[in-house]
Amino acid sequence: MPSMAANNFSRNTHQNQTKGDFVSRKQKIEQQRKNLPIAAVERRLVEEVRNNDTLIIVGETGSGKTTQLPQYLFKWGFCRDGGIIGITQPRRVAAITVAKRVAEECGIPLGQKVGYAIRFEDVTSGQTKIKYMTDGLLLREALLDPYLSKYSVIIVDEAHERTIHTDVLLGLLKNVQKARSKSINGVVNTDHNNSNNGHALEERIDNQNDGILKSCQVKKYNPLKLIIMSASLDARVFSEYFGGAKAVHVQGRQFPVDIFYTHKPETDCIDAALITIFQIHLEEGPGDVLVFLTGQEEIESVERLIHERLRQLPECSRKLLTFPIFSSLPSEKQMRVFMPSPAGHRKVILATNIAETSVTIPGIRYVVDPGLVKARTYDPKMGVDSLIIVTTSKAQALQRSGRAGRDGPGKCYRLYQESFFEKLTDSTLPEIKRCDLSNVVLQLKALGIDDVINFDFIEKPDRTAVVNSLWSLYLLGAVTEDNKLSDVGRQMARLPLDPVYSKALIVASQFGCLKEMLICVAMLSVESIFYAPREKLEESRNALKSFASPEGDHLTLLNVYRAADEFFQKNKMVHSEEKAEKNLRKWCKDNYINSRSLKHARDIHSQVVRNVEQMGLRVTSCEDDTLLLRRCLAASFFLKAAMKQPDGAYRVTLSGLIVQIHPSSVLFRAKPECIVFNELVHTNHSYVRNVSRIDYLWLIELAPHLYAVQD
Ligand code: CDP
Ligand code: MG
Repeated sequence: MPSMAANNFSRNTHQNQTKGDFVSRKQKIEQQRKNLPIAAVERRLVEEVRNNDTLIIVGETGSGKTTQLPQYLFKWGFCRDGGIIGITQPRRVAAITVAKRVAEECGIPLGQKVGYAIRFEDVTSGQTKIKYMTDGLLLREALLDPYLSKYSVIIVDEAHERTIHTDVLLGLLKNVQKARSKSINGVVNTDHNNSNNGHALEERIDNQNDGILKSCQVKKYNPLKLIIMSASLDARVFSEYFGGAKAVHVQGRQFPVDIFYTHKPETDCIDAALITIFQIHLEEGPGDVLVFLTGQEEIESVERLIHERLRQLPECSRKLLTFPIFSSLPSEKQMRVFMPSPAGHRKVILATNIAETSVTIPGIRYVVDPGLVKARTYDPKMGVDSLIIVTTSKAQALQRSGRAGRDGPGKCYRLYQESFFEKLTDSTLPEIKRCDLSNVVLQLKALGIDDVINFDFIEKPDRTAVVNSLWSLYLLGAVTEDNKLSDVGRQMARLPLDPVYSKALIVASQFGCLKEMLICVAMLSVESIFYAPREKLEESRNALKSFASPEGDHLTLLNVYRAADEFFQKNKMVHSEEKAEKNLRKWCKDNYINSRSLKHARDIHSQVVRNVEQMGLRVTSCEDDTLLLRRCLAASFFLKAAMKQPDGAYRVTLSGLIVQIHPSSVLFRAKPECIVFNELVHTNHSYVRNVSRIDYLWLIELAPHLYAVQD
C-alpha cells in the first residue's frame, strides 16, 4: 500500500538519522554561513556598529544581513550589558522563518537564545538574546516601556518597505536614542512605567524643573545602538533623517541577470505568465522559476492551469513542481518552498511580493515579473480602504529581477514593454501616505505625543488624513474636544486591536455581551475565515448555510466560532490536545473554513480575554439575546452604517458613498433596510463586508452625537 510505504519511509529516515548526519548538516550550515557575502566583512561591520550609534546598512537581498548580523553582534559582546538585540520585520512570515533559521544555525531550540514575537504569539523566554519581531509589536512594547530599556541594539530591517509601523518606529527610536544618551550624560530620568515617549519624553528630560522629574528616581540607561537595514539603494533618505548617519554597503554576490521585455503590451497577464513559465521549462537550462503574482486567488488559478497544461505534455517533460507562497498560507506549507527540488525536477514558485525581499529562496535562476502588485490604498475623505492592483515601482522591478542572479547568471522576463518600464515611478509610495491613520494617532497619543501633525516623521502623512483620524477618534470617544487622549482612549490603546474593535469591547462590557463581542472581534481581526476554492464554490456556499444567521455576518461568525469550539472541547474530553487540534483541522476542511485563520482567531481571542480581564472589564454573556447583541453592534460600529436605496444599493450615512453588500455576506440577498458593517473594499465596485442588520432608530438612540436631529 502506498500510504504504508510512505509511513515506513518517514519512520526509517528518522531512525537512520545518525549522529553523522547531524554533524554533516551542521557543517553544511557552517559552510553556507561562511560563504555568505556578509561573512567577508564581519569584523568591519562590527567595528562600524561599535563606532556609530546609528548605522545604515544597505545590501543585496540574500547577502546575509537579517540572519547573520544579529549573530555577529551577539558574538562580539553587544549583549554583555544584559541588553538584548531586537530585529524588526514588516511581515510576520519573515519574523518567524528567519528566527527558525537562526535558531537552527545556532543549533538550539527556538525560543531560547533566539526567539520571535508577533502580535498574539510570543516565542521568547528570559534567555532570549536575539529577538525577531514585527515592527508593529515593538511599537506596542514602547507603550509599556517607553525607553525600550531591555534592548541594547535595535535593528529596523527591510526599512525600504516603509510600512506605516516602520515609519512611526523610526521617529520613536530617534527620540528614545536621544533620551537614553541624555540619561547617561547625567540627566535624571523618569520611571519607565509612566507611559510617555518621544517628544514628551525629551521635553521631560530637558525640563529639569518639571514636577514629575523632581519626584522620581535617578535612572541611567545604556546607549541604544540603532541599525537601519535596507535592500534598496536609497540610503540617503535614512541617512539624512538620522542627521547624516553613516551608511555602509554590503556588496552582494550578484550574478548578471538578462532582462527581457515583451514586444507588445500583454492584455492577459495570467496567460502571458503561463506561456513564459512553459517556455522556460521546455527551452531553458536547469534552475528554478520565481513568478510574482498579486494574491492567493491568482496564485491558485495559475497553479491549477500549470497542472492542466502539464497533463498535455509528454511524460518526460512533466518534471515541474509548483510551490505557492503567500502570507495567509499555513506556515508548514510556506516552509516547503525552501526545500531543494528533487533531482531532474524544476520548481516553480508562485509568490506574492513577499518573495521580493522578505524571504530568500535559493536555487532561482528565472524570474517572471508581470509588473503588478496588490496594494492597499485609503481615501480618507470617503473612508474607503481599497485593495487594488497597481504597477510596481522601478525599485520593485529591480528587486524582483535581482532574485534570479543569486546562484548564477539568471534571466528575468518582464511581461511588459521596455518603454513601460521607463514610465514606472522610482519607488513605492510609503504606506503612511495611503492608509487609515487612526490606529497610529491613538498609539502616538498614548505614548505622550499629542501633537501628531508635528511629530518628526521621516515623511509627513497628509494633514487631512491626520485630521480625519482625529475626528473619528473623537467620535469614538478616544480623544476629547481639545484633542487630548480620554480615559476611554487610554483603555483602547492598551488593546492590540483596531481602535473601533477596542471600543466595541468597552461598549459591550456596558451592554453585558462582552463574551460574544470578544469572539466577534477576534473573528473580524483575521483574514478570510471562509475558504472558498474556485472549483468548489457551490459546496463551500452550502457549508456556510449551516452557520448562517439571518441577522448578519457577525452572528454568523459567532456561530462558526462556537461550533468549532464545541467540537474541539468535546474532542478534548476523549482525545489528547494534539489529536483534538488535528480533528479540528479536519472539521474546518469539511466545513470550508480556513483552519489557520480560525486558529489565529482563537489565539487572538485568548489574548484579548486576558487583556480585558487585566483592564477590569466584566466578561458577561447576553446568552441568546441577539437583539441586545445587534444593538451593541450598532452602538459600536455607528461610524460605518448604511441605508438601503430604492434600487437595492446602499448609501453610507457618513460619507454618502453608494455601496453594495458583498456577495460573500449572508445578507447579500436579504438586503435589510439599515446595516452596520466593518469593511469597505473597493475592487470593481464598492462593497461592504461583515454586515449586520440593525434598526436606524438605534443609531439615533445610541449614537446621538452623530445621528440625533438637531432642533
Ligand atoms: O537579509 P538578507 O536578504 O541579506 O539575507 P538573509 O535573509 O540573512 O539570508 C541569507 C541566506 O540564508 C539566504 O541566502 C538563504 O540561503 C539562507 N536562508 C535560508 O536558507 N532559510 C531561511 N529561512 C532564511 C535564510
Ligand atoms: Mg533580509
